[in-house]
Order: sequence, then C-alpha cells, then structure tokens
Amino acid sequence: MMLDLAFSRHDVVRRSASSRAAIVIDIMRASTTIAMALHNGCGGVIPVRERDEAKALAETLGGGVLLAGERRAEKIAGFDLGNSPADFSRERVAGKTVVLTTTNGTRAFRALDGAREVIVCAFVNVSAVARWLSRSGLDVMIVCAGRRGQFCLEDAVGGGMLIDRLLRVFDGAIVLSDAARASQILYAAHQGDLLGMLRDCEWGRGLTAGGFGADLELCAQVDVTGTVPVMRDGRLVAQEA
Ligand code: MLT
Repeated sequence: MMLDLAFSRHDVVRRSASSRAAIVIDIMRASTTIAMALHNGCGGVIPVRERDEAKALAETLGGGVLLAGERRAEKIAGFDLGNSPADFSRERVAGKTVVLTTTNGTRAFRALDGAREVIVCAFVNVSAVARWLSRSGLDVMIVCAGRRGQFCLEDAVGGGMLIDRLLRVFDGAIVLSDAARASQILYAAHQGDLLGMLRDCEWGRGLTAGGFGADLELCAQVDVTGTVPVMRDGRLVAQEA
C-alpha cells in the first residue's frame, strides 16, 4: 500500500488523490461533526462550498433536510445547525439529510477528483477508518483540510494517528511518503495529550476564545464510533468497519 499525505487542501493539487482512497481530516471540527452525525443516524451529509449553494440545494431536496454550517466558527444565520459536534444529536439528525458548509473542511472535497473512494476521518473514528482502508487494500492519500490552505497541527496529528492505526491492522507492506512520515512523528509527540494539543494549537485557541471550548473535548475523543463516512453519489453515508 502506498500512503501519501497532503498537509492542506492546496497541497493535494501538487500530489494526487487520483485512483486512491482519499481520506479527508478536519479534526476541528468538520470531520468530527460528520462522523458523529452519521453515527447518530443521519441519512447522509452533503458537503458544499458556499452558503448560497447550500441553501439552493436544501430547497431542491425538500423535506427532511437540515442546513448546517459555520463561518468564523459561528452558526450561519438562518441555518438549522452550526458545526458543533454536540448539535448533531440523534434527536436532531436521525433520518435527516444534512447539507453542510464549513470554511475549510467541506472545501477539501473539491480537490479530490479522480479518487477511487472519499472517506472522512477524525479521532472519533480513526480505528474504524484504518480497518476499512486495510480491507480495501487501496493506495491512500490523506488530505488534511488545514486552515486557509495552510498547515494546521491537529489535522497532521490526525493523519499520523491514522497511519499508526493502519500499520497495526494492515497485513501487507506500507510505503510511506516523507509527508506521511512527518505526520507520524507529530502524532508520536502528541499522542499522550490530544486534548492539550487541541487546546494549544491555533484553531483550538480560536474556538476556545469564541466560546466553543467544549467542542475540543468532543473532538479529542478517540474511537467512540465504528462509523466510516464514505462518499456515494455526492453524499457521505455511514458504513461500519
Ligand atoms: C472548517 O471546516 O474550517 C472547520 O470545521 C471550522 C470549524 O471549526 O467550525
């Protein structure tokens, strides 16, 4: 298995997700939110780039749709939900379709043309994603969403954690790129205190200052779900692993 990693969505264009399984990681908070929404019985999450696009799509889909998303961490005015994983409870999302737009996470999906599979990973489902990938045997491109197209620590640590779990469960050889090896090192440095890492990193400080500190605790949880969000016909749906 060949395993590469892009440190931001802009870095993907210099590498390639083509013919690989592309794994989108936006630990705070889009990946965690998507995984927990599907874990809680949401019928599908449709990631879109812009607010207007989200509204227009929700109108065409009709009933049973929730509009969700943030700008500068805050819920978008007029939307049903923001981007706090806690908002996506079973009571709110079971049986519903969620149309989600976020600043960085949902934009990362745009860069993945040609990928064989598109999957979402966070700390909350990292081992399930590793098992899913191990079974698929596909080459892997981990796509850290990053912030504004740039590196961010928590997504790189998430990438390193996924690699750690894959090395434990995959029987065959795994060939790591230098970027993938660097993320392993970052994970090794922070694995003992993931919540501390989230609190200290740039976006963790931003979320805490904005009153979203409780979300960091949810995003720091490891393996609370076996749900793997997998893209099917433009929507992320739940598969178990
Ligand atoms: C994003 O997609 O940029 C993040 O999920 C932002 C956030 O924490 O809401």
